[in-house]
Amino acid sequence: MDGNREHWGNKLGFILAAAGSAVGLGNIWKFPYITGENGGAAFIIIYLICILIIGLPVLIAEILLGRNSQLGPISTFRKLARKHKKLWIIAGGIFFFTGLVILSYYNVIAGWSLGYMVESIAGKISSFQTSADASVHFDALVKNPIWIISWQFAFVALGGIVVYFGVRNGIEKISKLLMPVFFVILIFLVIWGVSLEGAEKGLAFLFKPDWSTVSFKTVLMALGHAFFTLSVGMGVLLTYGSYLKKDDNVFFSGIMIALLDTLIAMLAGLAIFTSVFAMGFNPADGPGLVFNVLPAVFSQMPGGNIFSSLFFILLSIAALTSTISILEMLVSTLMDEFNMKRHSSVVLLSATIFILGIPSALSFGELGHISIFGLNWFDTMDYLSANILLPFGGMLVAVFVGWYLMKQDIMGELFHGVRNTDFNRGTSKVWYFLVKFVAPILIFLVFLSAIGVLK
Ligand code: PHE
Repeated sequence: MDGNREHWGNKLGFILAAAGSAVGLGNIWKFPYITGENGGAAFIIIYLICILIIGLPVLIAEILLGRNSQLGPISTFRKLARKHKKLWIIAGGIFFFTGLVILSYYNVIAGWSLGYMVESIAGKISSFQTSADASVHFDALVKNPIWIISWQFAFVALGGIVVYFGVRNGIEKISKLLMPVFFVILIFLVIWGVSLEGAEKGLAFLFKPDWSTVSFKTVLMALGHAFFTLSVGMGVLLTYGSYLKKDDNVFFSGIMIALLDTLIAMLAGLAIFTSVFAMGFNPADGPGLVFNVLPAVFSQMPGGNIFSSLFFILLSIAALTSTISILEMLVSTLMDEFNMKRHSSVVLLSATIFILGIPSALSFGELGHISIFGLNWFDTMDYLSANILLPFGGMLVAVFVGWYLMKQDIMGELFHGVRNTDFNRGTSKVWYFLVKFVAPILIFLVFLSAIGVLK
């Protein structure tokens, strides 16, 4: 073990940083519109089941791997694989590649959030009559290469600065500062949304399942989103786990992280759908829901500027605590595998991510005509990572822990920091079964569907 490795200052710091990674654009930008497109409550119930039987077990497995190796993803596989070492090193390489892909386009939407935050504070987001007016404004901005690339750059730089300061002084400090702010703003927006006249239609949409809308595809969408939203399947939580000390209870932390992520997705859903329904807009408005519909919703509220400012601050915080986790995974890979220094890794990777993201940034304007199997560049990156690379990575983690490590070794790792009671032994058996059998098989089905074998 590298005696110089940084560690989290305390347990709360780790939980907040990991929850910050999980809570991101996935919860606030993606979750509401895919729930809207997939019929509401029934989709949510399936998504919750997926989190419980696949997402959470693999999340715990990932953290355990990192805590055991005290290394970034590629080096972890190099150290722990007894068989097929080369293949597992390639698997670590896939994690690195996935991180680059996700960060490249994630920073673009994160940049929009930051740009919208500034526009809201400047009072420009509160005078739309309809969502069509808000869309016109949105289209003009995202087609403007200067606007979009500047904000993308700003966001990449922001994430780079945090990670530059390291695990304890950068990531942990900012998470401890921002996550409570995030929570307070969210609660405020929920209370406000629920008290609107007509909010009950939003509540019904979220809580009354209509099973007639459920198809096999709904199940697969829910599964895919469970990975994305928990940050599972690309070594990010493995990396965060590698900064844990042995006396931390990974079981408890894992459950807390998944609970916080789910709770926050539900609260964001509450805040957004109550407002959308109360104002008579359409919940199935697609990826633009947050940027097209909400500004129009805010425009019709008294004090709309304040609410839209708060909302886009919320979105920017969520995006920042997620981007830094992905960047940290990349940085730790360069540090552990290639002996690079933190500071030079951050600069090199930030520059790379910025450049790789430019085609995604321009996908809404200049490069909109580029089409790969019918998708523009941005959508291709999203599809490739969320539907193919993450499920594949999650399956790799489950297979590695379930089939490549000795059962007594991984159980031994789990019970560092977990009391050896009957209850805990029972739960750990259920966990092991889910990781070894249930998760790989179900993930394999998601994967087949993503590449179009299962329709
Ligand atoms: N979980 C983040 C979100 O919901 C996205 C993410 C995916 C972050 C994978 C890290 C790794 O927005």
